[in-house]
Amino acid sequence: MKYFTTTGKASNRASDCVIVGVYNRGKLSAGASDIDTASKGYIQNLIKSGDISSTPGRVTLLNKVPGVKAKRIALAGLGKDGSLDAIGFKKAVAASVKSLLNSKTKEIFNTLTLEPVKNCDPYHLARHSIETVSDTLYRFNQMKSGRKKASMPLSTVTHSINKRSDAANSKRGTKHGDAIAKGVALAKDLGNLPANVCTPNYLAETAKKMAASNTRLTTSILNEAEMENLNMGALLSVTAGATEPGKMIIMQYKGAGSDKPIVLVGKGVTFDTGGISLKPGARMDEMKFDMCGAASVIGVMSAIISIKLDINLTVIVPAVENMPAGNATRPGDIVKSMSGQTIEVLNTDAEGRMILCDALTYARRLKPATIIDVATLTGACVVALGNHRCAIYSNNDDLQDEIFSAAKRSEDLGWPMPMGEQYAAQLKSNFADMANIGGSTAGSVTAACFLGKFTDGMKWAHLDIAGVAWKTGEQKGSTGRPVSLLSEFILSRAGALS
Ligand code: BES
Ligand code: MN
Ligand code: ZN
Repeated sequence: MKYFTTTGKASNRASDCVIVGVYNRGKLSAGASDIDTASKGYIQNLIKSGDISSTPGRVTLLNKVPGVKAKRIALAGLGKDGSLDAIGFKKAVAASVKSLLNSKTKEIFNTLTLEPVKNCDPYHLARHSIETVSDTLYRFNQMKSGRKKASMPLSTVTHSINKRSDAANSKRGTKHGDAIAKGVALAKDLGNLPANVCTPNYLAETAKKMAASNTRLTTSILNEAEMENLNMGALLSVTAGATEPGKMIIMQYKGAGSDKPIVLVGKGVTFDTGGISLKPGARMDEMKFDMCGAASVIGVMSAIISIKLDINLTVIVPAVENMPAGNATRPGDIVKSMSGQTIEVLNTDAEGRMILCDALTYARRLKPATIIDVATLTGACVVALGNHRCAIYSNNDDLQDEIFSAAKRSEDLGWPMPMGEQYAAQLKSNFADMANIGGSTAGSVTAACFLGKFTDGMKWAHLDIAGVAWKTGEQKGSTGRPVSLLSEFILSRAGALS
C-alpha cells in the first residue's frame, strides 16, 4: 500500500473514491462541502430529497457526481455534529471501505481526517484510518483451495490534512499505522491458522524467520530438554501429555544499546483441550485461538521492527499444546515451578498460568524495565468485560494507568482490574505452596494473582485478552488485538508519538 498526505482539495482529484461525511440535520463534513460546492449543490439536493443517511455505519455511494473528477464519492454517516469520536471515525472509514469491496477501486482519498474527532490528533487519525482500512480488507484464504477471491485491488490511500503544519504528524501516523496494521495482520494469520499447522514449532520457525531478515533482532529457542535443565516444572507439566514438543521462544530486538528492555510475554497454547480436565465439545475448535497472546506479541515485534524504533524490546513466548494422554498431568499432581514454588494442579485446564509463571521467572534474568504478559487466560474475563475490553492488571498503579491510557488512545480498549491479598488467598492449597485455581468467584482476578506470585520486584502488568482476541459466530476469526494497544504503549515509552 502506498500512502500520501495532502492539503489539496478532493474536488480537483481524479480519485477512484473520495470518502466524505454527513452529520445529522444535513451538516456536511469539510470534504463533503468541497464536493457539494464543486457539484453545485448535488449533495445538498440528495439530502433534501431524503436519500442520505447520517447514521454512523451507513454509507451512500455516489457515482459520477457532476463537476467533480472523482469516479465515486462515499458519503458516510457521522452522527451528531460535534460528537464524532474515534469509534465513529473508524466506523465511517470501515463502512466506506466495505461499500467498495466489490468495486475495482485502486485508490481512495480520505477527507474524514479533516474532521474534529474527540481526543484525536492528525497522527492518530492517520493511524486509525490505516488500521481500519487494513482490518476491513483482511481475508484469511490461505487454507482454501481453488481460486482465491481477491478483495478490491486497493493500493493507494491519501489522507487530507487541514494545514501544512499537520503534515509531519500525519505522515508519522501513516508510517506507524502501516507497521501496526501489518503486525495486526500477522497476529490474525497466526491466530486463524489451525492447530495442526500452527504448532509450537511453527511459532518458533516464524520467530526465527523474522530474525533472519533483521540485524537488530535475534531469536533463540529452548527445547524441552533445555527447559528441563532450567527446572521449568510448571510449563513442562502442561506439555507432558502432548506429542507436539513444547518450545520457549525468545526474540530480542536491540535498538537502544544497553537500556533495560521492555519484555512482552505471550501465552502460546496452540491448542487447549483442557487436558485431563477436558473441556466440553461445543466450540472447542476455538481453542486454536489460545495462542493469540503469543500471536499479538509477535505482531508487536513485527511492528516495532518495521518502525525501526530505538528501543530494546524482548518477546517471550512459551508455546505448548494442552492434551490429555496417559502421561498427561492429573488433577491433584504437584509440580515445582522454575521459581522453586510448588503448585497443586487442581485443574489441568488452568494451563495458561502454568506456562506463563515459568516464562515470567525466566524473564527476570533479562532485568526488564517493564514486563507485560498477554494471555487468553480465563473464561471469567469474558463474563466480566465481554468482547469489548481486555482486563488490565498490574502490581504498579502508574503502569496500569499508562496501559489504560495507551488503550484509549489506540482505541484498542481495556479496563483496569483489581488485585490484592483477599483475592490471592483464594489460591491457598493444603498440599503445596499454592493451587492453580482460586475457586468459582473472580476467576480472572485470581488468575492474575497467581501470576503475581512470580513477579516480585518487577514492574509487571497482565492483560487478560480472552474476550477480545477473536470473534465467534459468522465472523469467526482472530482480531489481532491487542497489537495496537501494545504498540501504542511502546511508541509512547520511546517518545515517538509527538
Ligand atoms: N484458554 C482458556 C480460557 C478461555 C476459555 C478463553 C474460553 C476464552 C474462551 C483457559 O486455559 C482456561 O481453560 N481457563 C479456565 C480456568 C479455570 C479452570 C479456572 C476457564 O476459564 O474456565
Ligand atoms: Mn485451559
Ligand atoms: Zn487456555
